[in-house]
Amino acid sequence: MYEAVGGQLVIDKLVDDFYAIMATDPVAKDCFATHQGRDLSESAHKLKYFLSGWLGGPQLYVENFGHPRLRMRHNPFDIGVKEAEQWLYCMKKALSQSSISLETQAKMFGAFVQVAQMLTKNPD
Ligand code: HEM
Repeated sequence: MYEAVGGQLVIDKLVDDFYAIMATDPVAKDCFATHQGRDLSESAHKLKYFLSGWLGGPQLYVENFGHPRLRMRHNPFDIGVKEAEQWLYCMKKALSQSSISLETQAKMFGAFVQVAQMLTKNPD
C-alpha cells in the first residue's frame, strides 16, 4: 500500500490537508473540538508517522512513540458517531485532493471506516 499511495511525501500532504480541513470546515467542528488545546502540528506529525507504518512503509510511529494502542490513546476523547463521521468526512475530502488512485483511495477509506468504528465509544 505504501508504494501504491506514492510514499511519504504523499502521506504528509494527505495529513496536512486532513488537518487543514478539520480546522476550517464547519462540518467538522465537533471532531475539531476533540483536539481542543492540542498542537495540531504535533497531531499531524504523529498521524504521518502512524500512516507510514500502517500502510506498510517505515514503522516511524513505533520507532518514535512505541506501540500505537489507538484505542487506549483515544480514550481521553469524547468520540461519538458524530465525531467519527466528521473525521471520515475530512479524510475523504483530503483523499480526493491527493494524487492517490481512486482504487487505492477506496481501499484506504474502507480501512479508515473500520478504525473509526473501533474508536467510537458513545453510539449517541
Ligand atoms: C473517529 C474519530 C477520531 C477522532 C475524533 C480522533 C481524535 C484524536 C485526537 C483528539 C487525538 C490527539 C491529538 C494529539 O495528541 O495531538 C488523536 C490522536 C491520534 N489519532 Fe485519532 N481520532 C479519530 C480517529 C482516528 C483514526 C481513524 C486513526 C487512524 C487511522 C487515528 C489515528 C490517530 C493517531 C495515530 C494519533 C496520535 C496518537 C498519540 O500518539 O497520542 N485517529 N486522535
